[in-house]
Amino acid sequence: MKLTVISKDGQQVISMREGLSVLQALTENKIYVTSPCGGKGICGKCKIRLVKGTLPVTEADRRILTKEQIEQGIRLGCRAYLTEDATIEVEKEEEFQVVMNAMEVSENIKQNEDAQYGIAIDIGTTTIAMEVVDVKNKVIQNSYGELNRQRSYGADVISRISACNAGDLEKLRDTIRNQLREMIQRFELHSISKIAISANTTMCHILMGYPCETLGVYPFEPVNVNTIRTNSQDLFGDSIPFCQVVILPGISTFVGADIVSGLVSCGFSETEKVSVLIDLGTNGEMAIGTKNQILVTSAAAGPAFEGGNISCGTGSIPGAISSVEIQYGMAKVRTIQDKDPVGLCGSGVLELTAELLSNELIDETGALDERYFEEGFPVALSNKGEVVFTQRDIREIQMAKSAVYSAATLMTRRYGVKIDDVDKVYLAGGFGFHVNIEKAIAIGLLPKQWKEKITVVGNASLRGAELALVEDDFIRKAEAVVEVASVLALANDKDFSELYTENMFFE
Ligand code: FES
Repeated sequence: MKLTVISKDGQQVISMREGLSVLQALTENKIYVTSPCGGKGICGKCKIRLVKGTLPVTEADRRILTKEQIEQGIRLGCRAYLTEDATIEVEKEEEFQVVMNAMEVSENIKQNEDAQYGIAIDIGTTTIAMEVVDVKNKVIQNSYGELNRQRSYGADVISRISACNAGDLEKLRDTIRNQLREMIQRFELHSISKIAISANTTMCHILMGYPCETLGVYPFEPVNVNTIRTNSQDLFGDSIPFCQVVILPGISTFVGADIVSGLVSCGFSETEKVSVLIDLGTNGEMAIGTKNQILVTSAAAGPAFEGGNISCGTGSIPGAISSVEIQYGMAKVRTIQDKDPVGLCGSGVLELTAELLSNELIDETGALDERYFEEGFPVALSNKGEVVFTQRDIREIQMAKSAVYSAATLMTRRYGVKIDDVDKVYLAGGFGFHVNIEKAIAIGLLPKQWKEKITVVGNASLRGAELALVEDDFIRKAEAVVEVASVLALANDKDFSELYTENMFFE
């Protein structure tokens, strides 16, 4: 059967394989449609429109779509299966360029024949960040970021693990390897001295093609979290210059190389004073300790602080609303690179919540003022309509901030110190350098006592990969951190559940 796909880029005809949903066929053909639930028929974001032919209305269509939408031919792509040739219209997700912390993407570098260029890579669940490092002079020459293309298999690691376990491991592996290869090729380097990769444990497993079955079930054993030494040929073929590749070590399934990388780059392998590192990514990983003893944990915070699971949420892309002030009951916004608003990124979500609270448009239980209860609070106008912040979005934030606060305070207690005893707090992750600490504290994301101790470090995982290229003993330090680290499991912890419920409220 043939599926004709109309998008803003024109028309493309796809031959459908037996048993493939429309969403799967689109993904296989590199037509990416937003699908945060990974094709489970829950999120309702993978809408397509039937233009010609038939597509039976499914149970999920009836549950999620309105009668009018169904009559207009709208269907959920992940639930749609062809019974005859058809033509559909899709709204393709842009291959967004992600705004990097350290510097904007520059023109291709003028390559100095004598220089040695290494590539530092951070593979996040949501975004991928890369830097070209002049290894001899220890300077960053160029940087580039994109949204992770695996997101068409779901927004979080759990959906990616499920997709791998359902037989798509090779596809996910090839998706990430192809994306990394294409990103590396953009730099047009004549030679590469080395590539260092930092990523969470699931992303590392998928990159290596390791089976993911054990990652998703108790006792959540990883196949391998040790340092991996391989080469570019094995991972990316021969279309980039040959070089050695090192994949940094992790600690457990939930606390991966990205955190180890962050710990070393924040000096945990040398400090004698108790420090805390919190990564505000999807998995809410965090650690407390000194060079002698480190306790790590993770609190599934969800992707809200990366703009995920938020009705008008988006990644840190040009046009993302990153800062919000409410004046006279109306939102005044600033966007990344001052582009027209496209949605709310993590820092925008956080600032908006704090502003709604201080303007008493949300009460301490998280209930939105009744004027906005049905339609949501209007934030800005985008070219696709109004950007609104809904009651459901506020619930997402409450769950995320409570998970982070509860995990951070319980981790500190279990380490055997008081909140006040912590010397330094490093805040890493999707917020980049834009997080407003006062507002983060105002919504109850972190303890007040840490206000003066917080340093925002942006993408600490990428920073670690960068250091792995220029410091000979970086891997030794990373392995030393792994050696002294122990894991605090919160999933079945009664104290955590109690704290989590308590901290859902705003003060
Ligand atoms: S409903 Fe979520 S991907 Fe289809």
